[in-house]
Amino acid sequence: MFDLSGRLALVTGAGQGIGAGVAAHLADQGARVLVNDLALDRAERVASSIETKGGDAEPLVFDVTDLAEVVEALASRGLDIVVNNAGNAGARMMQPAPFREMDPAQWAPPIDVNLHGVMNTTHAVLAGMCERGFGRLITVSSGAGVVGLPIGVAPYGAGKAGAISFMRHIAIENAALGVTANSVALGLMAMTEVHDEALVAKLASTVPCRRLGTGDDLGPAVVWLASHEASWVTGQTIHVNGGSVTT
Ligand SMILES: NC(=O)c1ccc[n+]([C@@H]2O[C@H](COP(=O)([O-])OP(=O)(O)OC[C@H]3O[C@@H](n4cnc5c(N)ncnc54)[C@H](O)[C@@H]3O)[C@@H](O)[C@H]2O)c1
Repeated sequence: MFDLSGRLALVTGAGQGIGAGVAAHLADQGARVLVNDLALDRAERVASSIETKGGDAEPLVFDVTDLAEVVEALASRGLDIVVNNAGNAGARMMQPAPFREMDPAQWAPPIDVNLHGVMNTTHAVLAGMCERGFGRLITVSSGAGVVGLPIGVAPYGAGKAGAISFMRHIAIENAALGVTANSVALGLMAMTEVHDEALVAKLASTVPCRRLGTGDDLGPAVVWLASHEASWVTGQTIHVNGGSVTT
């Protein structure tokens, strides 16, 4: 079950964190994985760690917000599975603030990576998936795209909600062509750049399962959505969150 042998997968923003975990799980199931990131050293590290464990992976640098770069990198690849994981991170880490205090210059970056990035990769791969009669589009969204939160992330939430809605429309437009499009809405995850143990413990205490999530929590859900067996699952938002948001 869930054998991905012979499938070519892309995970964007997979040079660290959740995306790295997802890439490893896809490779474990037999997929060849293109490990995308803005940072070459990160993508190389993750790809080589997959290869060391016997998997098949290749680093692939591009910026998901740059349509021309995305098309050049992906159009001729024949991708079967695309996991839109790149989010606000690294140099583009968003600065949380209540919207009324936010400079309008802060609105666009989270929407650019979390919504336009997903549209860019989808544009580059969708026609080929439809022609071949198989495709799996999986977008990593967030509880912030589903419910309101008091943590100063309104533009990020708008980008994540937009991506969920975009997946639903793509799902319905292409449902008869063998292409599925789904989202996973994550709760509080362990963050690569946060090393404050007291803060981690405080955040974990707010999660019903009493711990932060990892790529190992998301990876199996993505493997399932990417599989042949999930061909009747499309247009959905799967919550992977330790019970934080129940709908
Ligand atoms: N960490 C959380 O608590 C949490 C919660 C809900 C949802 N999410 C979502 O999960 C996903 C992964 O989060 P994470 O915490 O592992 O992130 P992270 O910041 O640890 O890693 C993201 C990676 O994406 C890369 N990246 C950023 N912008 C990019 C771009 N434009 N093009 C290509 N690569 C780019 C970065 O270089 C980085 O290596 C994101 O979409 C995030 O919004 C995270």
